[in-house]
Amino acid sequence: MSDRYQGFASTPIGRLLVKNLGLPDPTALERWGAGDRLVDGLVVLGGDGRIAEILPTTLDGLGIASATSLEDGVRAKALVFDATGITDTGGLLALQEFFTPLMRRLESCPRVVVVGTPPELTSGGERVAQRALEGFTRSLGKEIGRGGTVQLVYVAPAADGAVDSTLAFLLSPKSAYVSGQVVRIGAHGSTSTEAVADWTRPLDGKVALVTGASRGIGEEIARVLHRDGATVVGVDVPQAASELQDLMTELDGDHLVLDITAPDAPQRIAHHLREHHGGVDVVVHNAGITRDRRLANMAEDRWSSVIAVNLTAPELITRELLDAGVVNAAGRIVGVASIAGIAGNVGQTNYATSKAGIIGLVESLRDELADGITVNAVAPGFIVTQMTAAVPFATREVGQRLNAMSQGGLPVDVAETVAWFASAGSGAVNGNVVRVCGQMMLGA
Ligand SMILES: NC(=O)c1ccc[n+]([C@@H]2O[C@H](COP(=O)([O-])OP(=O)(O)OC[C@H]3O[C@@H](n4cnc5c(N)ncnc54)[C@H](O)[C@@H]3O)[C@@H](O)[C@H]2O)c1
Repeated sequence: MSDRYQGFASTPIGRLLVKNLGLPDPTALERWGAGDRLVDGLVVLGGDGRIAEILPTTLDGLGIASATSLEDGVRAKALVFDATGITDTGGLLALQEFFTPLMRRLESCPRVVVVGTPPELTSGGERVAQRALEGFTRSLGKEIGRGGTVQLVYVAPAADGAVDSTLAFLLSPKSAYVSGQVVRIGAHGSTSTEAVADWTRPLDGKVALVTGASRGIGEEIARVLHRDGATVVGVDVPQAASELQDLMTELDGDHLVLDITAPDAPQRIAHHLREHHGGVDVVVHNAGITRDRRLANMAEDRWSSVIAVNLTAPELITRELLDAGVVNAAGRIVGVASIAGIAGNVGQTNYATSKAGIIGLVESLRDELADGITVNAVAPGFIVTQMTAAVPFATREVGQRLNAMSQGGLPVDVAETVAWFASAGSGAVNGNVVRVCGQMMLGA
């Protein structure tokens, strides 16, 4: 399932054609490997607000080097701009003043993070200016090129001290395929987080449930959560039992073979987690199916099976685990939505309904969860898996190129995003839906 176009575009003849015909020119994205530094280079800090003061110490704690200026002949790997001090539209000029001189001085696969205050927590001119930041970051994401990413992180004042895990993710190659996103920290529920002793194992001692774990994105989520220290309990259907068992044996985890739509599935999962693991810390609702047809040709079973697996099962399992007290304090619930649930897609009324429903699940739970439990979702775009390998060639080619990175993402890109939500350090990251889509041109 390699990207043949990307391989061709990097050959001498391919490079010539790409340049002369104006074809998409995908950059080979940097991805994080165990033992790598989070940021391989210098982070330049700018702006003047609440976060600017604590940024150097925060980054230092993550082993990330930062400075407030760039010496001649040196390039920056990342830029972080504190825009929390901007209280009127005139102040927005500070963005241009900081970024313009630095845009030609970035290394490849650069990272840009702008920090603001959630507009809904401000008023008047400050609210206007803070909301304006979204247009800036989304546009810069489409301009930056060379595998770069740009994000806006809105931090509630009470959560200023809880940004570490988010910066570790957004500044590192772990966020390779995440760009143009708006993240809120401390805007719903908890504004604090646990101190993380070892940033290479932020899930040490935690138990993580992953549905649909035998292959594709679910397999990679299981691998990354295991890498981060969790004991993974994988769930999949009987047809996938042997792959599931092999993977969980390799990861020193545990497994449960069941169909998540079975009427007793929520109780069986809750019982298993309580009896064998004393509860659960991370719940990832990854299992999902597609049964595409235009609505005019949609049979009832295609509609119902997709809603049952993708939406009703995650909803019922979450309710059961919460009601039965199986989710430990500071637990993390993570849904897997889809870009289709945000932008819509031809032939996917059933699938998009189910995935928009996952966003609804995040919105319905985020203000009612207690004990520091959080709920967030990832919304993958075009991710290269067995599911997308079945898409016809031409549709697949267009699907892969219609994003700021001109390529499809990998399962590990979704898995790293899930691991950021799951991290013990993400206690104030609640109520977010983050797209892992290379900043796809479809949807907001
Ligand atoms: N691949 C993409 O581009 C993409 C894009 C957006 C969203 N997603 C979502 O990501 C998730 C994983 O997708 P994938 O591409 O890895 O798919 P996949 O088909 O490769 O894997 C899905 C897994 O879920 C399991 N599963 C299906 N029904 C189940 C049930 N009733 N009970 C238990 N397990 C069940 C399958 O056996 C399989 O192991 C899905 O929710 C999908 O909708 C994928």
